[in-house]
Amino acid sequence: MAKDSLTITDNRTGKTYELPILYGTFPTYGAAVRTADLRQIKVSDDDFGLMGYDPAFTNTASCKSAITHIDGERGILRYRGYPIEQLAEQSNYLEVAYLVIYGELPTKPQYDEWVHTITHHTMVHENMKKFMDAFNYDAHPMGMLASSLAALSTLYPPSKKVRDAESRKHQTYRLMGKVITLGCMTYRHMKGLPYVMPDNDLSYTGNFMNMLWKMAEPKYKPNPVLERALDILFVLHADHEQNCSTNVLRSVGSSEADPYCAAAGATTALYGPLHGGANEQVLRMLRQIGSKDKIPQYIQDVKDRKALLMGFGHRVYKNYDPRARIIKRLAEQVFEVTGKNPLLDMALELERIALEDEFFVKRKLYPNVDFYSGIIYEAMGFPTDYFTVLFAIPRMPGWLAQWQEMITDPEQKIARPRQIYSGVAIRDFEPIEKRNRK
Ligand code: CMC
Repeated sequence: MAKDSLTITDNRTGKTYELPILYGTFPTYGAAVRTADLRQIKVSDDDFGLMGYDPAFTNTASCKSAITHIDGERGILRYRGYPIEQLAEQSNYLEVAYLVIYGELPTKPQYDEWVHTITHHTMVHENMKKFMDAFNYDAHPMGMLASSLAALSTLYPPSKKVRDAESRKHQTYRLMGKVITLGCMTYRHMKGLPYVMPDNDLSYTGNFMNMLWKMAEPKYKPNPVLERALDILFVLHADHEQNCSTNVLRSVGSSEADPYCAAAGATTALYGPLHGGANEQVLRMLRQIGSKDKIPQYIQDVKDRKALLMGFGHRVYKNYDPRARIIKRLAEQVFEVTGKNPLLDMALELERIALEDEFFVKRKLYPNVDFYSGIIYEAMGFPTDYFTVLFAIPRMPGWLAQWQEMITDPEQKIARPRQIYSGVAIRDFEPIEKRNRK
C-alpha cells in the first residue's frame, strides 16, 4: 500500500530513513518533508546532521498558510479560496482586505464597521508632517514611505505587545488607515504641495485621490471611473503569498519586532527592481526602447543577457499572471478618461514578440502584474518614481494577514536559517606588521 512518506538511503552509511510527507489542502497544493527530519541523517554521533540547501528559497516552504493560493502552472490566484477574477469584478478593496485579514467575507454590519474604523484611522500625528519635511525634495517616495512606517512605531509603544490579540487588532486598523495618508504625503512632498488630510465622506480610494490631488476646491470629487480602477488595482495587489517582501515581513516579525517596523522592512524589500520596483522599471525600459522598430534589438539584448525584460517572468507563475490579464483590460477603461498612453502600443508589441520567441517560450516567461500597471499609473498622472508606492499601499492587508498568521502559528519561531560554512577552517592571528599580502 502506498504510504505518505519518503524513504532515503544514505550511501555513506547504508542506513535507511523514513520521512513523513506533509500536504496542503490537497496533495497538489503543496507537499513537503520537514527539513528538520533530515538532521537524523548522520555519518557519526558528533555529526551535525544533514540540512536542506536552498539559496533564494526556490523550493522551501517556510510556513503553512491559509491566505493565498497560487497555481503557477495554470495561472491561478485565489485569496481565501475566492478567484481573483471574481473579487476584482464583484468586490471592492476594503472588503477584500477584510477577507484577506480575517479569512471570511464580512457580513453587512461587519463590513460597515470595518469601513468606518479604517476611515477613522487615516489621520496621522502632526509630527509626521515634520518628519516628512526633513526629506530632500527629490527623495524617492519608497524611502520616505518605509521610513515613515517605521516612525509610526515610535508613536504607538503598545504595538510591541505582539502576542496580545487586542493590540494586534488596533495596529491592524492603524496600518490599514495610515498607509494611504503616508503614501499621499510622500507624493505631496515630491510635488512641493501642502499635505491634504483625509476626508471621511469618501471611499478608501476616493480619499486616496483626495489626499493626492486636492488643490483649492472646497470638496474633492474623485472621478468614479478612476476611483474604481484604482480600487481594482488595489484588490489585485492585496496579497501574493510568500514573496520577497512578505518573507521579510515574516522574518522581522518573527523576532517580535512591532508590525510598523516589520511593514517598513517589507516596504524596503518591495522597493527593489526585481520585486515591486519592476513597475517603475517597465516604464523606464519602454521609454529607453523608444519606438516599435527598436523592439527586436531590445529582445536580442535580453537574449544576449545584456538586459532583462522588466515586467516579465515570475518565480511561481509559469503561465500568464492572472493579475496582468485583468490590468490589461482595465487599461482600456482608464484610457477612456485619461486618453491613451502611447506606451501601450509598445508594450503590446513587446509582449507579442516575446510570447512568440523561443527564448521566452522555453523559460515560460509571461507578463507579470507590473508589465501593464505602470502604463495605467502614468496615464493617471503618477510620476514614475511613485509607482511602487501604489503597490506598497494595497499590499498592507496581505502583510497584516501574514503577520497575524505567523504570530499565532505554534510551529513558528524566530526565523533563522542555517548555512554551509565554506571559509577558512582555523588559523593563527598575525600582527599587522607581518601581513605582507599585496
Ligand atoms: N528577462 C529575461 N530573462 C529572464 C527574465 C526576464 N525578465 N526573468 C527570468 N529570466 C530567465 C533567467 O535568466 C533564467 O534563464 P536561464 O535558466 O537561462 O538562466 C530563467 O529565465 C529562469 O528565471 P530565474 O532567474 O530562475 O527566475 P527567478 O524565479 O529567480 O526570478 C524574477 C523571478 C521575477 C526575479 C525574474 O523573472 C525577473 O527578474 N523578472 C524581471 C523583474 C520583474 O518583472 N519583477 C516583478 C515580479 S512580479 C511582482 C512581484 O514582485 O511580486
